[in-house]
Amino acid sequence: MNEGNIIIKNASELVTCSGFKAKKGSEMNNLHIIEDGAVVIEDGIIKAVGKTAQILDEIDENKYEVIDASNKSVLPGFVDSHTHFIFGGYRAEEFNWRLSGMQYMEIMKKGGGIINSVRGTKEATREELIEEGLKRLNSMMTFGVTTVEGKSGYGLDYETEIKQLEVMKELNKIHPLDIVKTFLGAHAVPEEYKGREDEFIDFIIDRVLPEIKERNLAEFCDIFCEKNVFSVEQSRRLLSKAKEMGMKLKIHADEIVQLGGAELAAELGAVSADHLLQASDEGIKKLVEKDVVATLLPGTAFSLKEDYARARYMIDSGCAVALATDFNPGSCFTESIPLIIALATLYMNMTTEEAITALTINGAAAVSRADEIGSIDVGKKGDIVIHEFPSYKYIPYHIGVSTVEKVIKNGILVYD
Ligand code: NIG
Ligand code: FE
Repeated sequence: MNEGNIIIKNASELVTCSGFKAKKGSEMNNLHIIEDGAVVIEDGIIKAVGKTAQILDEIDENKYEVIDASNKSVLPGFVDSHTHFIFGGYRAEEFNWRLSGMQYMEIMKKGGGIINSVRGTKEATREELIEEGLKRLNSMMTFGVTTVEGKSGYGLDYETEIKQLEVMKELNKIHPLDIVKTFLGAHAVPEEYKGREDEFIDFIIDRVLPEIKERNLAEFCDIFCEKNVFSVEQSRRLLSKAKEMGMKLKIHADEIVQLGGAELAAELGAVSADHLLQASDEGIKKLVEKDVVATLLPGTAFSLKEDYARARYMIDSGCAVALATDFNPGSCFTESIPLIIALATLYMNMTTEEAITALTINGAAAVSRADEIGSIDVGKKGDIVIHEFPSYKYIPYHIGVSTVEKVIKNGILVYD
């Protein structure tokens, strides 16, 4: 019996989320469920999907590790498509400042916020970042995440940005989860460049980006396009250059102020535009037209006590919406998928089906991998999660608690 050869059979609901590209608008409601379903994985790749009786008719069970999923629901692994999980130091005191009424941007102006984590990340050794990273990845796995996107952005200098990306590269080798790397060198303006933001963008373009490209250290380039951080023009300049160099694009867009980040994402053909709390109707329309995934991060809105992004309006307008945690040490220190599902369903008026689509196939599309993960389809990676209840409907119903029982990554049982 080879490693990576496994059959999961008798699933009450095999929630396939079938599809090879982002689901837009009303398509998000169709989860393509097979009752009494089975899935066969060989060498880590899905080989067959169907009714248990039919699948068992066609194959020899003895050649596989067999998992009986009677009374369980079986789903694709979740894709957490927006996180900042590599950082040194914590900012618990800032959380308390926020509780007493201080705004996130005020803390940032005082030299706290992202810059605080920059200090901690510069000080942290590679080994410390790897050790913390492993713990965080293990925790994500307990929530059923099988692929995670991770951003740099707590260096804002050559050495530390590269260090963060190298740490993620190493973690990708030693941990079962797949890590998609994003370069977010323009995450904040470092102290020494205050008032010289354009020069900082030049520095990123001339000094850091070429090295990252040459060493293939990141697949995506991202920027925090926000009032008092980087303007639309500066964002356009950096992202256009990254695109020219063959990188894919993401944008932290229209989070606190309506700047036109969504419009810029559409103009540049970004893979995703993220946050979007303040996105304009016109911006949303453009995301639909240009097939940009709208990645919503309700944990951040919750933690910052902001209004939620207009998920209902976006989906009704035909958008492909993804959900992610935005796990980071400041605005949203959580890797909890159940929390995100609770917020999306109870506060953003998303249906359970839409929330699951947003965390599976649309999450995969947000990291340009809808052709290999995000659904239970023949030819995709065997990334499967067995949930303890017979129906996916229990997932939001069991509020804030993980229903994950077993995680299978590339056909191998990695969490039980
Ligand atoms: O996505 N918005 C900017 N960046 C992060 C926050 C990072 C931090 O506070 O450390 C975000 O929310
Ligand atoms: Fe973020």
